[in-house]
This record gives sequence, structure tokens and C-alpha cells, in this order.
Amino acid sequence: MTDARQHTNRTPIQVIAHRGASDDAPEHTLAAYRKAIEDGADALECDVRLTADGHLVCVHDRRVNRTSNGRGAVSTLELSALAALDFGSWKDREESPDWDPAPGELTSVLTLERLLELVAETRAAGRPLQLAIETKHPTRWAGQVEERLLHLLKRFGLHDPPADAPSPVSIMSFSARSLHRVQASAPTLPTVYLMQFVTPRLRDGRLPAGARIAGPGMRIVRSHPGYIDRLHAAGHRVHVWTVNEPEDVELCVRLGVGAIITNRPKQVLSQLGRL
Ligand code: G3P
Ligand code: CA
Repeated sequence: MTDARQHTNRTPIQVIAHRGASDDAPEHTLAAYRKAIEDGADALECDVRLTADGHLVCVHDRRVNRTSNGRGAVSTLELSALAALDFGSWKDREESPDWDPAPGELTSVLTLERLLELVAETRAAGRPLQLAIETKHPTRWAGQVEERLLHLLKRFGLHDPPADAPSPVSIMSFSARSLHRVQASAPTLPTVYLMQFVTPRLRDGRLPAGARIAGPGMRIVRSHPGYIDRLHAAGHRVHVWTVNEPEDVELCVRLGVGAIITNRPKQVLSQLGRL
């Protein structure tokens, strides 16, 4: 097997912390994102959903049942109801022995606004941290998710990054329509089209309108490595999710992908010889 470190002289692979350092701390909490920053991640990944009263919060599932002590769909709950829940105590202490349950803001529901503040604070301190935001089930909301998202990014001055520097923010989605909406309003924001399968339409390496970067799942990379070459040949950067095993990191390095999205940023950075 090739040593992943041999490849670090080429453009470095970006390491993106999936839902924060989510192996070590409860996903999508401030605790998980702070840990990812401490671990040295280049970027953070988060999923966003709209609450019943129109706030964007960082929650993966449609319901809060798995990751909090509450029940119900995010879309039916107001932010004040979500703020009363604990998003930390579900985390398995046996699987994550370093996790020290921390009540309060560290394990409260995380708004996208608060996460953007964290990114802004980190960047102001001189570290070029980036944020990859995934719109979840945006079709149901007929454009509202993207509208709120772009409004928020505008407030932070992040909606129109200059073309000659890496954008602090990128937008990802399994929905081509969502990316198209984003691109129509904010054409310079990088957009990542997430894929679970290589459908016949995608086979030639071209992406749907509105998508600039390809985001295949690790399963695609393992079963169709030639497809990654095709995406590169079509001129796309490739960001792969969710890459947690050393042999998968190795394969991504060999294929020259642009970014690895992982629950274990520290382990991946160490394998890449960056720690
Ligand atoms: O980064 C993309 C990846 O997060 C997509 O899958 O289900 O973890 O949001 P999921
Ligand atoms: Ca995601």
C-alpha cells in the first residue's frame, strides 16, 4: 500500500470535520466543532434544517429523537423548544471515552448563526477555517432554506467570495435544485453535488447545472474508482464523504481527491503526515 505521506507535496487534501469531530463528541454541537478546530481540521461540515419559526439549525435527522433527549420533527418545533433540549447526553461514553458530558451551550442545539460566529472568530484569529453547509430536504421548503441561508451568509459577508481566494463557505446538497437556487443568487459560492449512486445521467462525469464540485460517497469511490478519474477529467474537484478508515484515506489520496470529509479529523490529519 502507498504511504499517504508521499502525496503531501501535491496540493494538500483538505480535511473536513463531518458534523464536527463527531466520533469524539456529539455531532453538530459546539463541543464537536471546537474539538475539530483543536484537532486541526481545515473545514467543518454541518447539515441545516429550518425550525417551525424559520431558524436554521444544525441537525442531521428529520427528527431530534436520536441526538437529543426530546422528540419530534425539527420542522414542527420552534427554536425555543429546541433550546430546552440536551443534544449531548445520547453520546455513548464507551465508544467515545474522551467525551466529557458538558451541559450548557456546548451541547445545546446549534444554530447556523452561532456556527458562523465560531468560524468568523477562528478566521479573525488568523486561521483560514472553512465551513461546508449541507441543505437537508430543501425541496420540501420550496426555496426557503436557501433564502434564509443566503440571507445569513450576506449578514456575515460570506455570500459573494472573490474568485481569486478560497471561499470561506461552500454549499452542499443531494438536491441539484437546491444548488441551482444557490448559484442563481450567489454565483461565486462553491457548490458541491452529493451523490450516493452514479446514476446513468452522471456516468460521463458531468454534474447537474448549478453544481461545481463533485461529492461522491466513499462507497462510490471504492466500487468505481475510475469514476473519480472521469470527474477529474471533466474538470471537477472531488470531495468524498464519509472517510473514516485508513485504507479509504489511502485510496482517496491515490486518486488525488480534493477533500476528505471525516468523523475523525485528527486520525486523518495524522495519517496524512500533518500532525
Ligand atoms: O458531507 C456529506 C455527507 O454529510 C452526506 O451524508 O447523511 O452524513 O449528511 P450525511
Ligand atoms: Ca451532511
